[in-house]
Amino acid sequence: MSQAITSVLHEDRVFEPSDAFRRRNRTVHCPDMATYRALYRRSMDDPEGFWAEMASHYHWFRQWNKVLEWECPDAQWFVGARTNVAFNCIDRQIVAGLGDQVAIIWEGEPTTTDPDGHEIRRLTYSDLKREVCRFANALKSLGVGRGDVVTLYMGMVPELAIAMLACARIGAAHSVIFGGFAASAIVDRVEDAKSSIIVTCDGAWRRGHVVPLKASVDEACARTTLIRHVVCLKRCDNAIGWTSGRDLWWHEICATQSDDCPCEEMESEDLLFLLYTSGSTGKPKGVRHTTGGYMVFTATTARYTYNLVPGEGQVYFCTADIGWITGHSYVVYGILPNRVPTVMYEGAPNFPQEDRFWEMVERHKITHFYTAPTAIRAFMKWGDEHPKKHDLSSLIVLGTVGEPINPEAWIWYHETIGGSRCPIVDTMWQTETGGHIITPLPGCTPTVPGSCTLPVFGIDAAIVNERGEELPPNQGGLLVIRRPWPGMLRGIHGDRERYLETYWSKVPGMYVAGDGARRDERGYFWIMGRIDDVINVSGHRLGTMEIESALVSHPAVVEAAVVGIPHEIKGTGIAAFVTLAPTHTGATNDAFRRELCDHVTKEIGAIARPDMIRFAGALPKTRSGKIMRRLLRDIAAGKESMQDTTTLEDFSLLAQLRESDE
Ligand code: WT7
Repeated sequence: MSQAITSVLHEDRVFEPSDAFRRRNRTVHCPDMATYRALYRRSMDDPEGFWAEMASHYHWFRQWNKVLEWECPDAQWFVGARTNVAFNCIDRQIVAGLGDQVAIIWEGEPTTTDPDGHEIRRLTYSDLKREVCRFANALKSLGVGRGDVVTLYMGMVPELAIAMLACARIGAAHSVIFGGFAASAIVDRVEDAKSSIIVTCDGAWRRGHVVPLKASVDEACARTTLIRHVVCLKRCDNAIGWTSGRDLWWHEICATQSDDCPCEEMESEDLLFLLYTSGSTGKPKGVRHTTGGYMVFTATTARYTYNLVPGEGQVYFCTADIGWITGHSYVVYGILPNRVPTVMYEGAPNFPQEDRFWEMVERHKITHFYTAPTAIRAFMKWGDEHPKKHDLSSLIVLGTVGEPINPEAWIWYHETIGGSRCPIVDTMWQTETGGHIITPLPGCTPTVPGSCTLPVFGIDAAIVNERGEELPPNQGGLLVIRRPWPGMLRGIHGDRERYLETYWSKVPGMYVAGDGARRDERGYFWIMGRIDDVINVSGHRLGTMEIESALVSHPAVVEAAVVGIPHEIKGTGIAAFVTLAPTHTGATNDAFRRELCDHVTKEIGAIARPDMIRFAGALPKTRSGKIMRRLLRDIAAGKESMQDTTTLEDFSLLAQLRESDE
């Protein structure tokens, strides 16, 4: 894999937009590079005019007085305007006479209930409106209103999207927590957001097993006094604990509610949601996204990046869990306003077999398929026979997100899934950017495997040094965005300092993404990876410090350092170097390693489980006491370190660390 990653740097195969793609699409929003350049130029020369035009596709209760108010680093978009995101996702379609069209196609993981063996729900815009209104009214009956934060800790069921839209409808913000996180993650997020309502499920189906979500919520509730109510959706019918007065069944509180709930007229800059993401300190940060700008940015990027066109039989499937930003922006908020059905899948890609996604592509005639490189590498490993069993001819556009894609995976995706006819959009973005910032446009941008190509309209992306000077082609530097865009984060919840420090302090006046990158001669961007103590495991962002804190909370561990290692499927795996308390007299064998890994899983969740644990008498530190992470990375990857180690406190440690795995 490290071989594959190096070869990214020498990739020069260019894939021009195919004629097959052009034939399949009656409408191509951006049909050629001349159009792209003209639109991009316009978005730079007249950003306010450009975004006003994009915003005019959607519904506003009141127009803006000013498109942008910018006082670095604080942006306000569509100042003075009022809108409602749920209205634009649902009601606007009903008003246009499209209420009977499918908004969400949901497929459950279990394969036994339906006559054809599948549990499928199709919700039209009218169905969605009814369900959203009922739940919105139920939330109101619990005292939830404008400005409150509702925590959603659920599996991938339609009710998760319904709950998000219900919050948006009544002006409450949601904070979705990925169902794979453990109780302590819930406690941290609930307390930071001061949220008093959690919506959860009795359980979630994952690879044929029930993930006991309600049990984690109960555990979290025992550790915080903030929670007034837990609303529980019955999904798996598993046995659960119940605290009467506090706990309520979703179906019971919705049963008596009206199907009608007016949309709150929200100010453009009212909070839409918080989403917690890892940073370089131990504490996850609550990224704030607001109403008008986020809505316009996600809907516009979705429209161009996937060439979404209503009424042409498109069916869009993004495999991401809604617990991550990809699910927020490109399962729900960016897709519904585009009037193309969005597919939601509940479970694992290899249940009951490794061909589940391909079976779904064939069953639902999916035209747009969006996933992560880590998933693509797993598909490759599972073997070509799985996609080959299915008719994938419905596919028109393929997408990838989360980490740089290695050319081998790109080519496999292009040939084996896309039949060499589907453009691949390698979309680069972040929780903080709200939506795509650098991506090819299908039918327009020539693609090169491994490059996310060119900036999205309105995104003034550049590679600069620490003084903010733009670097010449192929020189690595910091990826920055030099002016505001509608989908940008509006801060970190409750932590102004951290907002300034993380994104705005490294290069004055520019948003620093936290990635190293370069641009080639044709202006294409190549992302080289994070420059902070964040690692990208299977396309999910994890702070090394969070994992270290989890490790040192184990009684036998004194100190821990976590670094990334190349991993065949995950892209980056997790290596932990651990020093043990003298009181630990037990063995340092695999059973003990497993115990530590289980501990991390319990503290954070399975995504943070280390792939490798090494024991050491001490960790290598500089004279000023900083852990030498680069050195540890090299040791973990089995490389002879090229790094200058003259500041190492204790050279003998090196040998010890290398041998500690034997
Ligand atoms: C980080 C953001 C945004 C959805 C998924 C992750 C990396 C994301 C790409 C890509 C290379 C990518 C970056 C970024 N990343 N997409 N197409 N090519 N790297 O969201 O958890 O906020 O992580 O993911 O390092 O900073 P996130």
